[in-house]
Amino acid sequence: RVKPCRLIDLNEHADPRGSLSVVETGRDIEFDVKRVYYLYDLPVATVRGAHGHRNLEQLVIAVHGQFEITVDDGHHRSRYLLDHPSRGLLIGPMVWRNLINFSPGAVGLVLASELYDESDYYRDYDEFLRDAWAEA
Ligand code: TYD
Repeated sequence: RVKPCRLIDLNEHADPRGSLSVVETGRDIEFDVKRVYYLYDLPVATVRGAHGHRNLEQLVIAVHGQFEITVDDGHHRSRYLLDHPSRGLLIGPMVWRNLINFSPGAVGLVLASELYDESDYYRDYDEFLRDAWAEA
């Protein structure tokens, strides 16, 4: 069930009037977007995320400023820098993620494959690890 996390370069339409980036289901991402949320007014030292999902897929975009995301599938950890509105990180099921190192004023946009459902969350890292290892 684990899909590798992947950086996606979105189509960017830049002209003298400014820039516009697009995310389309079936072209940039596989899932239908059922929910959109965004993170803002973030203290620079904050840590967001710190959870995993059983089924949810998400695309995370730094629409303003920059931040980093560490991802952990129970076997490997990687770190991604999101520093441009035309780049997104695709995060699939069974990945523990931390969003860290937010620049002042950063805004994180998240496109999600499902409605909010607390029962889809792993809030406990040890429980996440047990299930991640059991799947391997
Ligand atoms: P939380 O999961 O702590 O945010 P993050 O993982 O991005 O750091 O969510 C913060 C609060 O917002 C928590 O009370 C749950 C609520 N929430 C919703 O009601 N709907 C949502 O879609 C999300 C993502 C969170």
